[in-house]
Order: sequence, then C-alpha cells, then structure tokens
Amino acid sequence: MSKTTSILVVGPDRTLPREIDSALSSLESVRMVTHYTPDYRQGIESARSRRPDIAIVEMGTDHRSLKMFVEEVRVGSPETSIIAAYHAQSLTGGSGESDTIIKAIRMGVQDFLRRPVSSSELEQFLERQLHRPQSGAQLGRICTFFANKGGVGKSTLSVNVATLLATRRPGRVLLVDASIQMGVCNTMLNALHPKTSLIDAVRERARLDETLIRELAYEHDSGLHLLAAPNSAVEATEIDDEVIARILTLARRTYDYVIVDTFPMLDSVMMAILDLTDRAYLVTESVVPTLRGAASLLETLDEIGLPEDRRRIILNRYSKFAGNLPVRDVAEKLGQEIAHVVPYQKKLLIAANQGVPFVIGAGRSGDFTRAVAKIVDEIDSDWSPRFAQSSVLNRSESSENTPERGNEVRA
Ligand SMILES: Nc1ncnc2c1ncn2[C@@H]1O[C@H](COP(=O)(O)OP(=O)(O)OP(=O)(O)O)[C@@H](O)[C@H]1O
Ligand SMILES: [Mg+2]
Repeated sequence: MSKTTSILVVGPDRTLPREIDSALSSLESVRMVTHYTPDYRQGIESARSRRPDIAIVEMGTDHRSLKMFVEEVRVGSPETSIIAAYHAQSLTGGSGESDTIIKAIRMGVQDFLRRPVSSSELEQFLERQLHRPQSGAQLGRICTFFANKGGVGKSTLSVNVATLLATRRPGRVLLVDASIQMGVCNTMLNALHPKTSLIDAVRERARLDETLIRELAYEHDSGLHLLAAPNSAVEATEIDDEVIARILTLARRTYDYVIVDTFPMLDSVMMAILDLTDRAYLVTESVVPTLRGAASLLETLDEIGLPEDRRRIILNRYSKFAGNLPVRDVAEKLGQEIAHVVPYQKKLLIAANQGVPFVIGAGRSGDFTRAVAKIVDEIDSDWSPRFAQSSVLNRSESSENTPERGNEVRA
C-alpha cells in the first residue's frame, strides 16, 4: 500500500501554502495531502485532530505564537514533525537568522525550510522526514463502507464484517457508526440504549485520548467494540469533519481495525472519513439506477483523489434470477472489477430484528457468511498494523478559507 504524506501548513502568510503547493506539484514520486490554517491556535487544534506527518509553520517575528504552537503540537500530536519556514530577510533584524534558528531548535522545531520554497529543497527535506525512525506507534487500519444510495446494505455489511473480524481479534476491532443521522448498528448488535455514543466523544474532544475512546465504546459479546451513532439527528449536527477526523485518528491508534459505517452523502464529514480510510468498500446492487449513481460516485472519487488501490466494489444482495444483470455486466457498467459478490439472504431481516449479527447467529455457515468471510480475510490478511502508515487521500491542493468552517478547510 503506497504511503501518502499529510502536511499541515500553518501561518498567516497566505503565500506560504501556495509556495508549498507549487513546489509539491512537480514532485511526482510523493503522494501528498495538505491542509492550511492561517491561525496558530487553529493550527494546534487541527494538528491534534488530523495528526499530520508534517506541520510546516511560518516563522517570522511572532516567536510567542510559534513557541505555543510547537509546545502544544508536541503534546497533542507527538508523531508530527514540526518544520519552520522562513524568509531569511525577515530574520535579519534583532537577533538575526542563526540566533532565531537556535531559539527555534530549543523550542522543538525539527527542521527548517528557507523561502521561497524550492521543489528540490522540499524533496530533500521530505526524504529526510519520511525516513526518520517512527515513534513506535502502531496504527490500525480504517475500512469504510459507503454508497451513493440508502438501503444497499452498508450497515448490514459493516456490522457483519466487524463482528466476524472481532471474533478473530477480540477487543481489537472498533465499529464506528458514522451514519450519524440515523445509525442502526447498535440495534443490529442488540445494544438498544448504549450509555455512550459518538456524541460523547465529540463533547469530550479536548480530553479525548486512547483510554477515553475505549471507555466510550460499547463491548459486544463477540469481542467487537462499538462507538454508536448519536441518539438523535439534532445531536448529530454537533459532528463536523474536524472532530470525526480526530476520533478516527485516535481510534486507529487504539484498535487494530476500525470499521466505519456511513450515511449516503458526500459531505465534509464523509470526506474527512475518506481522507483517513485505508480501504473504502463501495456497496452497490445490480439495479441500473443504483449502478448509474455508483459509476458517478466512482468518477467523483477519481476527482477527489481516492486512489483505486484503496477502494473495492461489493455487489450486495445478488441473486441469479433470470433477467438479473450478470456480474461482468455490472463491472462493465462501473468500469471497475467487482471485488466481492454478496448473495441475497432473506433471513438477514430476522437477524436484524433479533439483534444478532447473521454471521455469528443463524447464518454461521451459509453463502452470505462465506462472502463476508472473504471480505474479512482481505482486510485481515494484507494488513499488519506494525507497518501502518498515515493514509490520506492523494490531494496536493492546499486548503483555503471558508466562512462556515472557521479557518481551515480542504481544497
Ligand atoms: N445481502 C442481503 N440480502 C438480503 N437482504 C439484505 C442484504 N443486505 C442487506 N439487506 C437488507 O436490506 C435492508 C437495508 O440494509 P442496510 O440497512 O444494511 O442498508 P444501508 O445501506 O445501511 O441503508 P441506509 O443507507 O439507510 O443506512 C435491510 O433490511 C437488510 O436486512
Ligand atoms: Mg445504514
């Protein structure tokens, strides 16, 4: 799986992210995604949430803000390398360039970029950063089930895949019900009134850590942990892309596998989820209007830069009755091969009503479970958390301001 590097650019000078983008654009060998925030305080919050590989922070005359940024990021996101970018002429007054650099090193800045940033300097610099020994933190894998349409089986597959995986790795799998407006994972696991949910994680965002994530999760008998969706659609409005990114980033530090169920809408929350997703399972059915929507969603994924090696198509609820589209026709319509075909299974409804995932209940040995087991094998076999890397989308445009998100947005 190819490595993508996430970069956070912080500082009031708006030409800095443009300079970095333009230097990055000629580097074909490295996959990047950048986010930009012009304010140091928001930069701290963003670093805590997104846990970028690299934070490039503007170094000018405001040493206090720089110091505060460095101190906070070292605590909130210790794996982030902090780099100061500076114009040599802006440091000549007062203490001068070398004195300022020494001060910055004492603060904890790990490297420096002279502006204007050149491609060759940036490339060498990335080489240095990317080959630094890792802090030893092991990151789990995030797998997301998503679709362009409701009712295609995202929740059914998320719950059954997560449960089967958890029976193999008890306590190491977290299911996040990010179908935030109307989550059903708790009902499917017979956890009708979980004491805590995603909303508690949102409200505790300032003190959220690995221990708290575990405390907020509901423990199912199978060994699966669940971070349930909010109780109401009103509560769900408290969830934004920043906080979901923070929750998932912490979740992958806490669990080996994070399975995410989603709502069929490509909004900023969904984009944040896809940013962090290692494997995105697009769930669809052999129904022509649904397939048209799925084909257009695939085009959108190309546009937003979710690489093909991070996505798989699941053809769900499939049966071979006369007149149904054969699998190869579905693949042709989508312009992409079908990774998994999950058969129609009418007893899934009973399993959902009883709150017992089909794969560990009545359907333990049927075709549906075999298809789910194939997905679980795929997730489990080609993954070793030890070698996990940050895995954000391949987007190198920096973010610009939008009023609704304060000061940081994606491109
Ligand atoms: N392979 C299958 N065979 C038969 N029924 C299925 C299959 N997969 C899902 N279903 C049924 O389809 C219905 C919708 O499934 P599910 O709730 O998982 O869809 P969803 O994509 O999560 O929907 P939403 O977008 O509303 O969240 C449920 O009644 C479920 O039992
Ligand atoms: Mg659902």
